[in-house]
Amino acid sequence: MRDGASLKKSFLEELTKAASLTEIQQIRVKYLGKKGLLTSELKTLSTLPAEERRSFGKLINELKELIESEIASKESALSQEDLRKRLVSEAIDITLPGKYTPIGKEHPINKVLREITEIFVTMGFGVEEGPEVELDYYNFEALNMPKNHPARDMQDTFYITEDTVLRTHTSPVQIRGMEKRKPPLRFIVPGKVYRCDADITHTPMFHQVEGLMVDTDISFSDLKGVLEMFIHKMFSPETPVRFRPSFFPFTEPSAEVDIGCIFCKGGGCQVCKGSGWLEILGAGMVNPRVFEMVGYDPEVYTGFAFGMGVERITMLKYSIDDIRLFYENDIRFLRQF
Ligand code: PHE
Repeated sequence: MRDGASLKKSFLEELTKAASLTEIQQIRVKYLGKKGLLTSELKTLSTLPAEERRSFGKLINELKELIESEIASKESALSQEDLRKRLVSEAIDITLPGKYTPIGKEHPINKVLREITEIFVTMGFGVEEGPEVELDYYNFEALNMPKNHPARDMQDTFYITEDTVLRTHTSPVQIRGMEKRKPPLRFIVPGKVYRCDADITHTPMFHQVEGLMVDTDISFSDLKGVLEMFIHKMFSPETPVRFRPSFFPFTEPSAEVDIGCIFCKGGGCQVCKGSGWLEILGAGMVNPRVFEMVGYDPEVYTGFAFGMGVERITMLKYSIDDIRLFYENDIRFLRQF
C-alpha cells in the first residue's frame, strides 16, 4: 500500500455509495475493525526498516483519522436525513377535527336532584337512603298514621302484600335514620317514591327529597332559615317565601311552603292560578309521637322535617308543563338541559 492513496480512494468511493447506517457500520468494520484493512497495515509496521516506520506510522494515523471523521460526518448527515423523513411521514395534522363520541347527558331530574343535594350538603346535611319496597310500619305507622287512619287516603298506595308497600314518600327514611343514630342529626333523603296516580302533573313513580334535623333546641325559625336559604340558592335570592298552615300526621305544627310565582312575579298567571304563589314543599316540627316511636325523649329533643317533589321543582325551574315528558325518553327533550 505504501502511500495509502488507493486505500483512501476505495474507502471514499464505498462511503459515498453507502445509503444507510448499517452500510456505514459495515465499512467501519472493513477498514477499522480488528481484522480490517487499515489494522492489518498497521500490523506490518514492525516488519519495516526503522527509517520507514516513522513516516508509515504517520500515514496510517492520518488515514485512520480521515476515515473516522468521514464516517462521523456521513453518519450525522444520514441520521439528519432520517429524522427529516420521519418528521414528514409521521406528521400529524392538528387542524383535523377530532372524532366525536356521543357520551349522553345527565337526566334533568338527576341534575336537579344533584343540585338540591349539593345545597343541603353545603349546609352540613348528610345523605341517607332507604328501601323503595318498604314496610307499612315505616311508611305509615311509625309516622303516626295507624291502620285505618284517614290520612292514608291522601296517598294512593301500591301494596305489595298486607304489610309491604312501594313507599309513597321518603319520610320512612326519617324513622330508619333516627333508629340508626342518636341526636344531634341532620340529613336529607333523595329517592324514588310511588303513588297510583297519573296525569299531566303526576306519574306513578316520582322523586322526593326529605330533610330531617334533630337536636335539643331546634325551633321553627331554624326550619324557616334552612328552607329560605335553600329556596334562594335553588331559584334566586329575591324569591319571596311563604309558610302556610297545613297538616301532616308526622309534624306538628305543619306548613306548606310557597314561593312567589317565578313566571308572573306575583301578579297572577295561569301557572299559579292567579294566586301569585306556587306550592313547592311540605314541612313542620317533628311530632312528639314520632320521637316516641324511635325512643327519643320528646321532652329533650325537637326537630324539623320537610319533603319536596323533585319533578315539580324541575318543572318550575325549566317551565315544563307536562311531567310525562321526563319519562318518554325523547332525546330531543332530554338534550336541552
Ligand atoms: N311526606 C310528605 C309528603 O309526601 C311531605 C313532608 C315531609 C311533609 C316531611 C312534612 C315533613 O307529602
